[in-house]
Amino acid sequence: MPDELFNDASWLIAAIMRGLMTFPDETPGVHEVLSRIAEQDLSEKMFSVPQAQRLPGCRHLPEAVAAGLVVSSDLCSAIATIEDRLHWTRMDHYADEVMGQPGFEDNGAYAEIVGPTGFFAGDDFGLGLVLLGPGMHCIDHHHAAPELYWLLSGPIEYRRPPGSLEQVGTSNILWNKPNEVHAMKTGERPMLAVWSWTRDVDQLPVLVSS
Ligand SMILES: [Fe+2]
Repeated sequence: MPDELFNDASWLIAAIMRGLMTFPDETPGVHEVLSRIAEQDLSEKMFSVPQAQRLPGCRHLPEAVAAGLVVSSDLCSAIATIEDRLHWTRMDHYADEVMGQPGFEDNGAYAEIVGPTGFFAGDDFGLGLVLLGPGMHCIDHHHAAPELYWLLSGPIEYRRPPGSLEQVGTSNILWNKPNEVHAMKTGERPMLAVWSWTRDVDQLPVLVSS
């Protein structure tokens, strides 16, 4: 049913936009992400059906989506409706050996909404969902792409060197400027976040060894 799926994908993107619009204009990253979404061609002629794929990390989705209903029932209802039609991808750049954590790969997954494996290809722009199970540490890294996270479930700990890990509660926005080093760590609950790379999406993340 491509028509129905197109409508659900459009609902998902509109719910993300509505959610981001509730933040004050000066919130770092919000204006840039909304502008870049507006520049994308999200019409039906550009729509494609992702090759649906689930991963072991997706077992954390029900808990994370349920927790996120408090942050945005609109968005989390849209996610619950469509999550089994998404192409969930392993965080290949964050293999267990590199992260120094057995099980990291089986506890994380991301799904593009706009991007090569999403509903719309996007023009040097990525928008999607990131899921990370409890007790995981995504170590210091940086990338050329400016990056936004909108936390739907958590809390998590987050650091930008030289600072140390600090707790960040759900519904907060995190914004990483190009090549700014950052790290995050989940606690007892899985993290589900809206994620965006606003440009330079072809440049891979670089991990910073300690
Ligand atoms: Fe990042």
